[in-house]
Amino acid sequence: MARVALVTGGTRGIGKAISARLKADGYKVAANYGGNAEAAEATAKELGISVYKWDVGNAAECAEGIAKVQSELGPVDVLVNNAGITRDGLFHKMSAEKWDDVIRVDLSSMFYMTRPVIEGMRERGFGRIINISSINGQKGQVGQVNYSAAKAGIIGFTKALAQESASKGVTVNVVAPGYVDTDMVAAVPEDVLKKIISTIPVGRLGKAEEIAAMVAFLASDQAGFITGATMTVNGAQYIAG
Ligand code: CAA
Repeated sequence: MARVALVTGGTRGIGKAISARLKADGYKVAANYGGNAEAAEATAKELGISVYKWDVGNAAECAEGIAKVQSELGPVDVLVNNAGITRDGLFHKMSAEKWDDVIRVDLSSMFYMTRPVIEGMRERGFGRIINISSINGQKGQVGQVNYSAAKAGIIGFTKALAQESASKGVTVNVVAPGYVDTDMVAAVPEDVLKKIISTIPVGRLGKAEEIAAMVAFLASDQAGFITGATMTVNGAQYIAG
């Protein structure tokens, strides 16, 4: 029987590439999205997958959304916590709202999404939880105190949960992308982005498919001995910085 994969933020950017790759690998894919219905419908049609709208930063909506996915597709075997937002700005000018929004959507979503699926994974003796962090959670980034804190928090969340889940066949890992060619990165001011690209030894932005390939490997049976890990996919930017 095909495994069920749920990808948050799975209809655009890196998430869309993950949905596409997992679908191609034979999973039944459910892609969550937060707001852009037009893009979601287009992705659903293009990839032949089911799409579901809810806010990953809202506990009740997550519980309800996951229940719907499970009743339609079956128990979730692979959860990819990919959805995330930025609210960039220098910290000394940052509003509490920008802080709260990013912590809620990028970090609290880890609890809201994972808590409803973890018991089933433990009972069935198999699960893959793959959390998308960022190079900026590893090294910090000017203008992203909120985002860097949330993305670093994901790494701690993963390391702790991996230890609790290891004996039950459930692996929990982080993929930490560098700067990838998506709408999120395109929103960085052009001069700033140019400077950032000059610090990437590979000399270019990453491709969403390159992140998806790592996620697909971690989701596979071959990756059963990898848990609690942070897989960096960043063109050597982190080690060179
Ligand atoms: N170190 C310290 N200070 C810095 C700096 C640096 N590297 N770069 C800029 N600054 C300071 C300058 O000194 C200046 O301060 P003063 O006003 O005291 O002179 C200030 O930043 C720049 O002033 P601006 O008027 O340009 O500030 P701003 O508030 O308009 O914008 C910013 C600043 C928000 C940081 C903007 O430059 C920006 O958006 N940078 C990009 C941040 C970024 O990389 N975001 C990643 C988005 S993609 C993503 O998140 C995906 C992923 O996971 C990789």
